[in-house]
Amino acid sequence: MSRKIHIFDTTLRDGEQSPGCSMNLEEKLQMARQLEKLGADIIEAGFPIASEGEFEAVKAVADVLEKSTVAALCRTKVLDIDRAWEAIAAAKNPRIHTFLATSEIHMKYKLNMSRQEVLDNIRAAVSHACQYTDDVEFSAEDASRSDLAFLVDAAAVAVEAGASTVNLPDTVGYATPGDHGRMFAEVHRQVTAGKNVRLSAHCHNDLGLAVANSLAAVENGADQVECTINGIGERAGNASLEEIAMALYVRREAYQASTSVLSKEIFPTSQMLSAITGVNVQPHKAIVGDNAFAHEAGIHQDGVLKNALTYEIMTPASVGVKGNNIVLGKHSGRHALKQRYKELGHDLDKDRLETLYRQFLAVADEKKRVEDEDLQRLIANVETKKKSVA
Ligand code: KIV
Ligand code: ZN
Repeated sequence: MSRKIHIFDTTLRDGEQSPGCSMNLEEKLQMARQLEKLGADIIEAGFPIASEGEFEAVKAVADVLEKSTVAALCRTKVLDIDRAWEAIAAAKNPRIHTFLATSEIHMKYKLNMSRQEVLDNIRAAVSHACQYTDDVEFSAEDASRSDLAFLVDAAAVAVEAGASTVNLPDTVGYATPGDHGRMFAEVHRQVTAGKNVRLSAHCHNDLGLAVANSLAAVENGADQVECTINGIGERAGNASLEEIAMALYVRREAYQASTSVLSKEIFPTSQMLSAITGVNVQPHKAIVGDNAFAHEAGIHQDGVLKNALTYEIMTPASVGVKGNNIVLGKHSGRHALKQRYKELGHDLDKDRLETLYRQFLAVADEKKRVEDEDLQRLIANVETKKKSVA
């Protein structure tokens, strides 16, 4: 039986921490509505204590969402927690998300706290948050670089104090899938197994492993994944929502897990985020990049035109991508050229195809991509010459 994996979208919080990606209240609202339509189970709207504007934006999101849970981030300080609650109190489904680091390096240099002080802070913060709502998430920041026995203690304290979700972030993107899976398996075995507590993954992409690490967590007991649209986030970004959702869908027999993501909304959501932030994804970005479904090599084009499954593991339409995926360039073959001309309204016989193909290759040698206008120009020239000869 397939397990449900809860999608916790943090585009509006961790994603927004990406240079150049900050959003104003209206932009956050527009994105939040689209994320709800996409099927995100939880939407982290921001960090209310950060500024007055951030507080207002989180509150506005909390006021409008109908289905998705709205999370607000806060440190373990009482003032932070109170401010977070104030921002989301009116939400249909509010969640307080509090965090404290558990790695030696963070405790010593950043927090200047002993292990006992960290455990005491976690207990006090989670208990305080639970006075407002049952839906409290605790994140052990830098979990992947924490001593595992201490991480288990920290998670156990959070659960005893009432946390319903325990998140184990790979804050600096240091974990490998093997390490990450083992950490989740151990915390699951010792703390959350058999309890009504959700274990969550939150991976950063410093080594390009954020999605692989998130999936390793899913295989080892995580039933929530924190991620962002287009993978935006601190430094090299967070795990990309679209990649996780489609990996779980396309390889469902391997993961035996599913999400509530409406895959057709993926591309529109990605496009909306790029339009709002002005930050585009690279052309070869999986799922949502311009080239994600483009085929230029003649052999591939021939295969795709005969049966798309030869070179596509999902259809562009399934993620909301419309339009033509055959790119005409110097690697393209006659088959693709004939097909494109057909789509443009010209049925080419063998001779005309041969003539046009030679001219097309000459243009392709000059240009990286041959566009429809180039094809129209070529065929118009051929027609004119034919008429003048006649
Ligand atoms: O990366 C991280 O550790 C975080 C936490 C605040 C959840 O973003
Ligand atoms: Zn993060």
